[in-house]
Amino acid sequence: MLEVRGLSKRFGGLQAVCDLSLSMAEGEVLGLIGPNGAGKTTAFNLISGFLVPDSGEIKFRGRSVVGLRPHQICHLGLTRTFQLVRPFPHLSVLENVKVGALARTASVREAAGKARHVLEEVGLLAKVEVHAGELTLAERKRLELARALATEPVLLLLDEVMAGLTATETERIVELIRAINRRGVAILLIEHVMRAVMSLSGRIIVLNYGERIAEGPPAVIANDARVIEAYLGEEYVGATQG
Ligand SMILES: Nc1ncnc2c1ncn2[C@@H]1O[C@H](COP(=O)(O)OP(=O)(O)O)[C@@H](O)[C@H]1O
Ligand SMILES: [Mg+2]
Repeated sequence: MLEVRGLSKRFGGLQAVCDLSLSMAEGEVLGLIGPNGAGKTTAFNLISGFLVPDSGEIKFRGRSVVGLRPHQICHLGLTRTFQLVRPFPHLSVLENVKVGALARTASVREAAGKARHVLEEVGLLAKVEVHAGELTLAERKRLELARALATEPVLLLLDEVMAGLTATETERIVELIRAINRRGVAILLIEHVMRAVMSLSGRIIVLNYGERIAEGPPAVIANDARVIEAYLGEEYVGATQG
């Protein structure tokens, strides 16, 4: 479904993403991990059309998407969330999600129906009238997910949707992601919460200084010496012990 070949992006003297290749099958959950500054978000920005690569090829369902605008890529079924969630604070939760739904329909009525449907899925139906600016962080993360789901993606790129959440909130969002995937949506997941990424992903790719340093099933990645060296952290150690 997704074929990335030789993707590179430089910011001035900094090679943020270096010759990155990856592929994804329909319906797969692929984890993308690596230390801060490894180039994960930049990779997302390139794949979703928010940045143009210096070189490399990105094919989504057989079609090159390099040079397409984010809304065009979204229309093909590839949608991403943002690490720093930025809902329209003065719009209601419902209005925020309707903006996403309008990617698929010109009918405001239909968009509202779709928005309610995905808000129910993410457990925010009780908050439809609340201003997005009044939500808690956990609720804003769910809103971000709902906005993305409203565009009806077949491939969803999630950028740290669990960052800053409590253990309970994290568990709920893991279950939510599992449910979204069960109805056929492929997921590319950037995540620092190792226990979550290990349990959700069928396969994991590890980035370090813009380069892919490892790829494999979670159990193999957890024991890869290069990964442990690049990415040793308390959470990581906790996940491999758990
Ligand atoms: N728009 C930008 N301009 C300049 N440097 C950037 C920009 N975006 C990211 N970077 C740099 O590129 C590197 C990779 O960043 P990023 O992709 O955000 O990493 P990650 O998401 O893995 O933490 C970092 O050193 C970051 O400071
Ligand atoms: Mg990032």
